[in-house]
Amino acid sequence: MTKPDVLVIGSNMVDLITYVDRMPVEGETIAAPSFEMGCGGKGANQAVAAARLGSNVSFITMLGSDDFGKMQLQNYKDVGIDTSTIGIGEANSGVAPIFVDPSSDNRIIIVKGANNELTPAVLEKYEDCIKEAKIIVLQQEIPLETDYRAIELANQYGVPVLLNPAPANKDLDIDYARRVDYFAPNETELSSLTKMPVDTMDKIEAAAQKMVDLGVKNMVVTLGSKGVLWVNKQHSEVIPAMHVKAVDTTGAGDSFIGSFAHYIAAGDSVDDAIRHANEYAGVTVTRKGTQKSYPSADKFKILKEKIFINQ
Ligand code: ATP
Ligand code: RIB
Repeated sequence: MTKPDVLVIGSNMVDLITYVDRMPVEGETIAAPSFEMGCGGKGANQAVAAARLGSNVSFITMLGSDDFGKMQLQNYKDVGIDTSTIGIGEANSGVAPIFVDPSSDNRIIIVKGANNELTPAVLEKYEDCIKEAKIIVLQQEIPLETDYRAIELANQYGVPVLLNPAPANKDLDIDYARRVDYFAPNETELSSLTKMPVDTMDKIEAAAQKMVDLGVKNMVVTLGSKGVLWVNKQHSEVIPAMHVKAVDTTGAGDSFIGSFAHYIAAGDSVDDAIRHANEYAGVTVTRKGTQKSYPSADKFKILKEKIFINQ
């Protein structure tokens, strides 16, 4: 087991992405122009983004006992992720049928499969890895109890934690949100947690402020093409996204989270890490697919010069 810059504890899925001209109505069958299969899942996406940027990444996840599981394991090896903390479950792999419309928006259904087998007991086998990480990244496609146990262990060893509360889960215990260093929902997740409206920037800020008032240390709220709102006790700032022509925003949030973790582990201030992660996520939305759209550090440099030419 190597010492990770970034330790991701979370999900893996196989993404089944259909690009549609429009969504079918109930009872209707329509033909779609194209389909792509790729490796996805929020945890895996975040791990891959950090690894492609050059972080030393470990990933604690449970793969399915099927060909999809084998495909994903090979993918992580190819990307250079430490696979010694990856287990094989009894269930099939998690899968995610995804529909992307011409405006680049997506609808996703997840079937968690073996991800449900990433229990606190499985996690505890990797306490040594948790202790050594520079930052731990969590999401909510595995049992919540496992996220809670990860936060307890990270707190015990003084390791910073980034929790991306996605997909939204109303059962999340706010006490655990207080115990992480960076709490990073998107607008919808923020609204679901606070039960507050988020249809204007003022309302988004009020909802994020409510979480800070409840004791959350740093709110990092992703706002799609509007960028990111960063709020803590001393500070409230919107850091704008890059101006790009988006073709597929699937996994944009994960590319932001994974790259943000990479930049924090590399020593960036929160402010700089958000700016750099906005750039990385901005590049990924100009490309199709989830992990497929995440460039390596070298490719990112080249793409940045091309895509952000007038900014
Ligand atoms: P998903 O669930 O599809 O992964 P999300 O809702 O979690 O996405 P968003 O808030 O949509 O995440 O986007 C995350 C980040 O990606 C934004 O903060 C921004 O940096 C970048 N981004 C997303 N959409 C765009 C866009 N149209 N133009 C530029 N940057 C974008
Ligand atoms: O955030 C995007 C991801 O959500 C997809 O890769 C899909 O697998 C779902 O987990």
